[in-house]
Amino acid sequence: MVQGKWLAPGEDLSLLLPVREAVFGRGTDVRDAESWNVLVLSDSVPAATGRIWWQDGAFWLGDLAVLEEYRRRHLGDLVLRLLLYKAQSHSAREVRLISPADLTGFFSRLGLQEQPGGNPRFIEMMIPGDQIDLDTCSRCPKTNCPNRQPG
Ligand SMILES: CC(C)(COP(=O)(O)OP(=O)(O)OC[C@H]1O[C@@H](n2cnc3c(N)ncnc32)[C@H](O)[C@@H]1OP(=O)(O)O)[C@@H](O)C(=O)NCCC(=O)NCCS
Repeated sequence: MVQGKWLAPGEDLSLLLPVREAVFGRGTDVRDAESWNVLVLSDSVPAATGRIWWQDGAFWLGDLAVLEEYRRRHLGDLVLRLLLYKAQSHSAREVRLISPADLTGFFSRLGLQEQPGGNPRFIEMMIPGDQIDLDTCSRCPKTNCPNRQPG
């Protein structure tokens, strides 16, 4: 079973920090004090994480991480959707993140757009809050899926 768990600023992060440490080689920092962190568990095992914080007029997403052995099972997608949902439920005007150049395709699937300029290895991406669309079907190319609503 896959479960998502929100951790408010100041809450104990001891379950999720091993995931961040395994993927990025670093643990907690000052930003955690102002971030909502999300932890995804797979059969009760901490497997994926990410966080969202407010800065300079935008919500920022960061530190999305899935343990190597849990990748390609849509846990990263779930973390991203949970973070975007949190931004949406706070009426975000815009949501931003910095993506490694080889991961922009992962984020653009949910509408984040590359911003011009900056470091070519780390690309700033943005989506206006009113363009966040978490409907799984709306970007899916399949036309013969039984889940697709007519019209
Ligand atoms: C990026 C990361 C979070 C993806 O996690 P994941 O659980 O393996 O990805 P998912 O299984 O949820 O992938 C969902 C979809 O995105 C696609 N996808 C995954 N990585 C992609 C990439 N680099 N480019 C384009 N699409 C990608 C998958 O093919 C899948 O597509 P589908 O829905 O058509 O099957 C994971 O690879 C990771 O932890 N990377 C290292 C940490 C990192 O660099 N994080 C980003 C910094 S903020």
